[in-house]
Amino acid sequence: MIVVTGATGTVGAEVVRGLRERGAAVRAVVRPGSKGRPEWGDAVERAEADFADAASLDAALAGAEAVYLLVAVHPDMAAHERNVIDAAARSGHRPRVVLHAAAGVDRRPEGVRFIGAHTAGLDHLRASGLPWTVLAPNGFHQNFLGMAQAVRSGTLAVPGGAGAVSYVDARDVAEAAVEVLVGEGHEGAVYTLTGPESLTHGELAERLAAVAGRPVAYTAVEPAQALAGMLAAGRQPWRAEGLTELYGYYAAGNAAEVGPDTARLTGHPPRSFAEFAAEHAEDFRA
Ligand SMILES: NC(=O)c1ccc[n+]([C@@H]2O[C@H](COP(=O)([O-])OP(=O)(O)OC[C@H]3O[C@@H](n4cnc5c(N)ncnc54)[C@H](OP(=O)(O)O)[C@@H]3O)[C@@H](O)[C@H]2O)c1
Repeated sequence: MIVVTGATGTVGAEVVRGLRERGAAVRAVVRPGSKGRPEWGDAVERAEADFADAASLDAALAGAEAVYLLVAVHPDMAAHERNVIDAAARSGHRPRVVLHAAAGVDRRPEGVRFIGAHTAGLDHLRASGLPWTVLAPNGFHQNFLGMAQAVRSGTLAVPGGAGAVSYVDARDVAEAAVEVLVGEGHEGAVYTLTGPESLTHGELAERLAAVAGRPVAYTAVEPAQALAGMLAAGRQPWRAEGLTELYGYYAAGNAAEVGPDTARLTGHPPRSFAEFAAEHAEDFRA
């Protein structure tokens, strides 16, 4: 039995789908009260659990041979990862834990909370004595769907400076995850998952413009201005500060590396940003 947490989300839903295609028995962990995904039907077992509730996690992980550990971005995300790891350790079956982290997790960058939370999770996992693997994806192509409205009005305004980022498609991340979950020989590996090329936000805007059929101008917003804008728009401070830190990390060129792990694990070249943008042309077109 392979247990998938975060199973209704962007990556988790694709992991569940991919595992079913490979014939694996899957238990999807959903929040209490969630119906899960309609496409699951009876083929996917559901277990209700909250990352903050240890007893619910014990029940959800009972009998697991492997766990895909994906938590949502949240002020308590480090504790949430610890809670799932502790429940896996208590289960007594020594399940393999595949930690869905973020690129840079093993570099331990200072002051980047979204990455730091995963570094803490990785340290806890190592100390648990459980067999583990880490998937460390770069930013997702899918993040740009959240900026589609601004793109439609002709702007991409983020505090990304002139740094290039090798954004990766969440579907490739999920395919890599499935391979690690059903395959063998991945213990102790930290796989950094990137797209096929490294692009500045100016170059990303050009690719969005190509599918939008109109100019899309990149504005490299100053970090303080970006933070103020997010707070004024009602974003939670913890999340707004985290995003500003992450873009600072990108702007400094720390997420530019293009690595071989995505293609090695999925067996095909990673999807490009241009392909992703073309698939979502309707979202980006005014
Ligand atoms: N976005 C990026 O660019 C990026 C890049 C690298 C790494 N990451 C990492 O990827 C992860 C996010 O992946 P994603 O985008 O696939 O997530 P997502 O779409 O936001 O989905 C989060 C999942 O977690 C579930 N969830 C939320 N709170 C929960 C709780 N308290 N108890 C149980 N389940 C809960 C959600 O359930 P509901 O559907 O009920 O809400 C959903 O299934 C984060 O760890 C992030 O650091 C993201």
